[in-house]
Amino acid sequence: MFKQLPNDDIDSVEVILNGKKVSAPLGTTVAAMALANGIRATRTTPISNSNRAPFCMMGVCYDCLMIIDGKSNQRACVTYVKKGMQVQTQQGVGPALGESL
Ligand code: FES
Repeated sequence: MFKQLPNDDIDSVEVILNGKKVSAPLGTTVAAMALANGIRATRTTPISNSNRAPFCMMGVCYDCLMIIDGKSNQRACVTYVKKGMQVQTQQGVGPALGESL
């Protein structure tokens, strides 16, 4: 559904998305990277376990919360990819900081 346009002028970085190594252009948000790699639900809600996905893409709705570098509840739409970043979809409230996933 989502596809990134090729651009040879922008360097890419490798990111770990749900345990799988993927490549993303620098300057890409984590939400855009996740959508471009087939992730449709970035989190589930804590009460009903309903799927949620990036909606506003500007940091307002909080539907894009993901676990980024071990920290839960990070807004993927306002976080840019970095080399070696670890990104995971989040179930409910996600693990507390320092808690294993
Ligand atoms: S998509 Fe709305 S806060 Fe990230």
